[in-house]
Amino acid sequence: MKNIVLIGFMGTGKSSVGRLLAEKLGYSFVDTDTLIEERTELSIPQIFAESGEDYFRQYEKKIVKEVCSRANIVISTGGGVPMFEENRLSMKTGGNILICLRAGIPTIMRRTKGRNNRPLLKNDESKMQSLLEKRMPFYDQADFMIDTDDLTPLQIVNEIIVYL
Ligand code: S3P
Repeated sequence: MKNIVLIGFMGTGKSSVGRLLAEKLGYSFVDTDTLIEERTELSIPQIFAESGEDYFRQYEKKIVKEVCSRANIVISTGGGVPMFEENRLSMKTGGNILICLRAGIPTIMRRTKGRNNRPLLKNDESKMQSLLEKRMPFYDQADFMIDTDDLTPLQIVNEIIVYL
């Protein structure tokens, strides 16, 4: 089967769902943020602080291209990935299946609260809302979308498996 690529806003559960989905399917799992942190030996906030968002986005594009051309893996992507044409093309490579995880602002706030590993979020609800609105048309280009507000990671995984 093709790769399964999870896209969606921060706090929609891409990493936990991706890990579980890979386990169920017997696939490998790659999280683009984790891979970037491993390769650079820096945390995402450190990369933003030391080299800026543009540098992060360039690095992210290389990683997305590389992992999307592998086979039989579940890929969980950073929330900003679908915003770039180059990434959208990479993600579609070889007929990969794109799944979008959605969540409302209260859920996103709850899931990301108390964590300071997302330099773009800073727990600012109105900023979050406008960023989400701007990104929505790109997230909506996925092959399948799931509202995750009232679902556990296992329920989300089961819905994805039914779709596949
Ligand atoms: C970002 C989302 C983060 C990470 C970076 C930028 C974004 O990943 O890539 O902080 O632009 O939405 P998660 O979606 O895994 O939190």
